[in-house]
Formats: sequence, structure tokens, C-alpha cells
Amino acid sequence: MRLQKYLAHAGVASRRAAEEFIARGRVRVNGKAVTKPGTLVGPADRVEVDGRLVAAADAPRYLVLNKPPKVMTTMRDPGGRRTVASLVPREFGRVVPVGRLDYDTSGVLLMTDDGDLAYILTHPKFGVEKTYRAVVRGRLQAEDVRALLEGIKLEGERSQPAKVRVVRTSGASSEIDVTIHEGKNRQVRRMFEATDHPVVSLVRLRFGPLSLGELPVGHWREATDREISALRRVGREARAELDAKEAG
Ligand code: URA
Repeated sequence: MRLQKYLAHAGVASRRAAEEFIARGRVRVNGKAVTKPGTLVGPADRVEVDGRLVAAADAPRYLVLNKPPKVMTTMRDPGGRRTVASLVPREFGRVVPVGRLDYDTSGVLLMTDDGDLAYILTHPKFGVEKTYRAVVRGRLQAEDVRALLEGIKLEGERSQPAKVRVVRTSGASSEIDVTIHEGKNRQVRRMFEATDHPVVSLVRLRFGPLSLGELPVGHWREATDREISALRRVGREARAELDAKEAG
């Protein structure tokens, strides 16, 4: 879309006035002042007027939800269980969850209507890094940590090596942060089952550049500009990685 049209659609000014803004060097695209009115911009571009970010009228939305346990990561549940749709305002209309957290898992869940990004972030050949805090039964032993670090056999298929940080351990239970790239079904739970330390509770602390921070359970926030830029960068890198794989 031409820059002046983008600005007009976003409600910044009329198209004529937007052309003036551009001619006066008040508009920057991806950090560079643009004075040519016909410059083409798209949803991935960062457009600023007088240093203020301008979101396109139909710009995709990115929400970070702290999903509670006992909630389905779907927009509808034929079984009538509570879903993440009930936790985000209707005005966000078409956002859908990116990937899935188990019914009993809580934590960071990205919801967006940016279909391209959602597709690439959940593509099985590309895994965004995710960190989970698991409380597991019993005292985790050094050999269990080693097994997790090396990758564990899950139904004949080896999970990729995980990054592991033991937060605390006692006789009754242990608390561990696990970082993985993959997104196999119930992966973290199955990894700990394989070490004979079943998961008692599981919280996703991080999904790529998105962190849980202080967001209370059941609450959402809009991703910050910085997070959105980082998500798009991850998306671009993933796309390049996939293209390279497909090219052989
Ligand atoms: N691994 C799991 O076991 N469950 C989740 O919800 C996410 C990752």
C-alpha cells in the first residue's frame, strides 16, 4: 500500500495532508526518513510519524495470555469446557491461539490474527524456543538431568536435547526449568514421565521473545512493539530456514 494511503487509513491525516507530512520528512519507515510519497509499505513495516508508531487500521493483533489450568487452548469446545476464547475481549475478533498448551498447563500463550506468523511459528519443521517450569514428583537425580540434556526416547523417537535448570529439589518434589524447541504432544510431561518423575504442575514461562513476567493467571496484555518486532524477526528467520531446508 502507498505510504500516504497507509497513513490515511490509520487515521493519522487525510491523504493530502499525509503527503505533506511525507514531503516534510516527518515520516520514517523502518527507521529511515522517507520523503517519496509513493513508497510502498506493508504490515511488516514499522511506520512512524514524528517518532510515534502508526499501526495500520487493519494491523494484526498480538495478545499474550496467561492461560490458566483447566482451560482448553481452542476457540470452541464441543464438550462445553472453558476455552481461551472466554478470556480475551470480543473486540479482538479473529485472534486464535498459536500452538497449544495442555488443558492442565498454564502460562504464556500467544494469540493473534496474523495467520502467516502463526503458521510459521507452529510449523513442525521449525520450533521456536519455549521455557517451561515444571514441578515434578520426587528428587531429580543427576542422571535424570543428564538424560534430559541429551534427549529422551519418547515412543521410539528421541526428543531433542533440552536446556535444563534445576530451581530447587527436595525429597518430595523438584522444580525445574526446561527449554525446548520442539512441540510434540505433551512433550514436557512425557519427558519427565520417562525419568520416573511425573509432572505435578507445568507453567510456560516463555514463548520465543514473549515472557510471562508479572501477568496474572487468566489475564492478557497486548504484545509490546519490541515483542512484535522480535516475533516478526523470528518468523522471518524461520521462513528463511525452512526455505533453505526445502531447497536441499
Ligand atoms: N509440554 C507439555 O507436556 N504440555 C504442554 O502444555 C506444553 C508442553
